[in-house]
Amino acid sequence: MVAYRWDSTLETGHEIIDTQHKQLFEAINNLLDTCHGEKGSEELTKKLDFLNTYTIKHFFDEERIQQKYHYPDYPKHKQYHETFKNTVKDLTHRLIWSGPSEELIKEVYSSIGDWLVSHIKIQDFKLAKYIRAQHTAS
Ligand SMILES: [Fe+2]
Repeated sequence: MVAYRWDSTLETGHEIIDTQHKQLFEAINNLLDTCHGEKGSEELTKKLDFLNTYTIKHFFDEERIQQKYHYPDYPKHKQYHETFKNTVKDLTHRLIWSGPSEELIKEVYSSIGDWLVSHIKIQDFKLAKYIRAQHTAS
């Protein structure tokens, strides 16, 4: 199974955000592991529940940080989060409904894992850079 591996190219430099991103990667890898295995629907539901809950928690925390710093890109960034939360919810229903088919697993990679990688590298890096600049300015 191809898993997502954490490396320094994913580090924003913001401690809370990075710690939570690592946890999200672990949640995605655990989900993929369950999808590829023979563990049954109960285990799959558990992994999906965790991913949904943790995604909501992480975005909530990250958005609070953005508000604290009056991040000008906040509305757009929040919109990306909302879309992703819906993607995870939608895939959750389909995975539980029809089981982890090869096609759905591919979607977990592209719409969840790969999405997160690119969101971090583009949007969250932009956010971290803005926060750093605020600190230097004050
Ligand atoms: Fe984000």
